[in-house]
Amino acid sequence: LSRQQFGIRASVVSEVEEKKYASEDAYSSLSQVCAVLGTQWGDEGKGKLVDILAERYDVVARCQGGSNAGHTIYNNEGKKFALHLIPSGILNENAICIIGNGVVVHLPTFFEEVNRLETSGVDCRGRLFVSDRAHLLFDLHQTVDGLREAELKGSMIGTTKRGIGPCYASKAIRNGLRVGDLRHMDAFREKLVNLFRDAASRFKSFQYEEKQVEAEVERYRVFANRLGPYITDTVQYVNEAYRQKKKLLVEGGQATMLDMDFGTYPFVTSSNPSAGGICTGLGIAPRHIGDIIGVVKAYSTRVGAGPYPTEIHGDIADRIRDAGYEYGTTTGRPRRCGWLDMVALNYSCQINGFSYLNMTKLDVLSCLPNIRIGVSYKSKNGKTLSSFPADLQTLEEVQVEYEDLPGWEVDISKIRRYRDLPSAAKNYIDRVESLVGIPIRFIGVGPGRDAMIVKD
Ligand code: GTP
Repeated sequence: LSRQQFGIRASVVSEVEEKKYASEDAYSSLSQVCAVLGTQWGDEGKGKLVDILAERYDVVARCQGGSNAGHTIYNNEGKKFALHLIPSGILNENAICIIGNGVVVHLPTFFEEVNRLETSGVDCRGRLFVSDRAHLLFDLHQTVDGLREAELKGSMIGTTKRGIGPCYASKAIRNGLRVGDLRHMDAFREKLVNLFRDAASRFKSFQYEEKQVEAEVERYRVFANRLGPYITDTVQYVNEAYRQKKKLLVEGGQATMLDMDFGTYPFVTSSNPSAGGICTGLGIAPRHIGDIIGVVKAYSTRVGAGPYPTEIHGDIADRIRDAGYEYGTTTGRPRRCGWLDMVALNYSCQINGFSYLNMTKLDVLSCLPNIRIGVSYKSKNGKTLSSFPADLQTLEEVQVEYEDLPGWEVDISKIRRYRDLPSAAKNYIDRVESLVGIPIRFIGVGPGRDAMIVKD
């Protein structure tokens, strides 16, 4: 409810209430269908905004990726949950959660998450639905992922080896199995045999015995029984919910610079984490999507291989890495760190048409006396590039032109109002906002759910 609806005059509203109402307005005024997407190379901290919004939405859906995404979120009692496949909305007991047709589903991971949630008292039955059109990711896909990476030797993509790429490959080559196939176990068995045969014909070291396939079929027979109540025509469900004026939040995984079409191919993920993936991965029409919020880290990071023009090496990178705890969540591998890259960010904004940006981890930059923004790329022959280059060789050769801004070097993690930020921090935000032309409406200043400033 807004301040006006409460009939409270601004002058009598305390500072705490003022902040609360301002944030509430900003969150509640978002459209009926709203998506939160990553603008860079992932790990931007999408989880926090998704977590805040999930409480205000009736349906929370994932539309792409698999258990390679994931957010760490906290329930109202402060208990920590790491979710990789199930949407964060599951902690809001009034929300329905959807795993859309564009997601690839590893059922052992799915049930592991369901079990963990249910032992913590979070009920999933009747609130969590999996698309019958979503593809099943088998352990076989994970084995193939490892074999492919081993084949690539020196030029590995640096995948999470969770089988996501091979599962999407099966989908594209049309020998994949879908959740709906679990309704017909005889045909399921035949299709699974084909999948094993296909992998064996491709990789010499992929050997299997028939009894392994039979064991997998039996395992999935058990899953099929348990999954029954979750299997849904989610296209129908989502569109019916839309017609009934229910609020739908789409929770993006990964990010635009990892998009299979728009990212730094081949160092990308195997789905479309950009705006188009919302439509193809949920079956919702583009004109129904209202707000799309892009999440951008105040600097940048990248995991795995691939060109990274604004990468920083040495002491400054180490300071950012330590202050921002930039280490892989599963592997503990140090993330590559760099300055904010406006060429990449503008490209990402162009593709997604963001309504607002959420800048996260501004507090991390408090560790630096000076901050740089990469504003343009120059090619080898000194020409300024007019767009983000498609080919990696050009990208590897670009010279980045920077703008230098003074840092603020004070702890900002307790600040909750924009006007209380140090002027150097406001300058930084204003400069980025003017370079990108999209309002930075939400600013993260710490890991906690409350550490978010809403800028009017
Ligand atoms: P992917 O979906 O895997 O790309 O990750 P993500 O974008 O969902 O990242 P996630 O939400 O897991 O956030 C990564 C880490 O950043 C978490 O530990 C968050 O607590 C932390 N984080 C988020 N926002 C902020 C912030 O404003 N400041 C600080 N210091 N940490 C933050």
